[in-house]
Amino acid sequence: MRAIQWAPGEISLLDQTKLPHETVWETFRSAAEVADAITAMKVRGAPAIGAAAAFGLAAEAHRLQGQPRLKEQLIEASQQLRKARPTAVNLAQALDEMDEVLRGVDDESRIAEELYRHALRIAELDVQTNRRIGDLGAELLKDVGGRILTHCNTGSLATVEYGTALGVIRSMHRDGSLQRVYVDETRPYLQGARLTAYELMDEGIPFDIVTDSMAGYLMGQGMVDAVIVGADRIARNGDTANKIGTYSLAVLAKYHGIPFYVAAPMTTVDLRTESGDAIPIEQRHAKEVTHMWDLPIAPEGASALHPAFDVTPGELITAIITERGIVQPPYTTGFSS
Ligand code: MRU
Repeated sequence: MRAIQWAPGEISLLDQTKLPHETVWETFRSAAEVADAITAMKVRGAPAIGAAAAFGLAAEAHRLQGQPRLKEQLIEASQQLRKARPTAVNLAQALDEMDEVLRGVDDESRIAEELYRHALRIAELDVQTNRRIGDLGAELLKDVGGRILTHCNTGSLATVEYGTALGVIRSMHRDGSLQRVYVDETRPYLQGARLTAYELMDEGIPFDIVTDSMAGYLMGQGMVDAVIVGADRIARNGDTANKIGTYSLAVLAKYHGIPFYVAAPMTTVDLRTESGDAIPIEQRHAKEVTHMWDLPIAPEGASALHPAFDVTPGELITAIITERGIVQPPYTTGFSS
């Protein structure tokens, strides 16, 4: 399954705000349109927004080809894309790379082609990386037990293809070590109930959706062998920002003696950020909490909070599965070795 497609001068996205009931593809030909699609979460998931932004910048270069001040205009577009969502570092990482390519091209007539070529490279690498994470993770988890709880959506829809935490689950299923997946619904955007369930059904992987508040009950009943989640930004000390609700799961897992794994590409590891305190947490609109798809579920005018991510301290994480290998505490030295 793929939710991002591309061609020179354009990028098409499967609108994730409409899944699972409607399959609507939209095509974008400017950086501003792609930035809006990222902010509106038509495309979401840390690696997917990095790749989408790269193709968005390449499309912008195609659109502006031959115009004066091309490089300056593209740097501005890159800055606009960067602001689309603040927590997932993959967005900034991908655009850092694209900016470097842009600065390195002397012949302006070649900029669009070179940017598109690099966006392709980011997308291809993401697919390879996820496969490797899946294999390493399945190997690590094969003796832990096959009943896995996961949060949010970390699959093909959140990456270019295959997925990170959901990639590990896919690989476990392929290897025969997976028994069942418990899918947190993931309030308020319901990435679990809508998107992870959609992907698992598509692959015939057995699962149950549970509300976020059921995790403690399941763990207390001895129904969960391991928790595995993705990440939006991992600080140098292993503190990990991921979808709101991840921290609560890690605390519950610790209490119940259940291993808690994070699966993420190295592009999600931000060695410039010392600890979780320095990770910017996106605050989204309260209406996404008080309403569901424009239907109010709270009294009119009710106040609500909406931090979209939380930070799980590295000490609660059993191991971080990257394409380079399994990193265990202490993370401060683990990522650089
Ligand atoms: O707000 P979202 O849906 O973009 O949040 C996504 C997550 O938190 C994922 O767990 C994370 O990006 C990893 S996706 C491979």
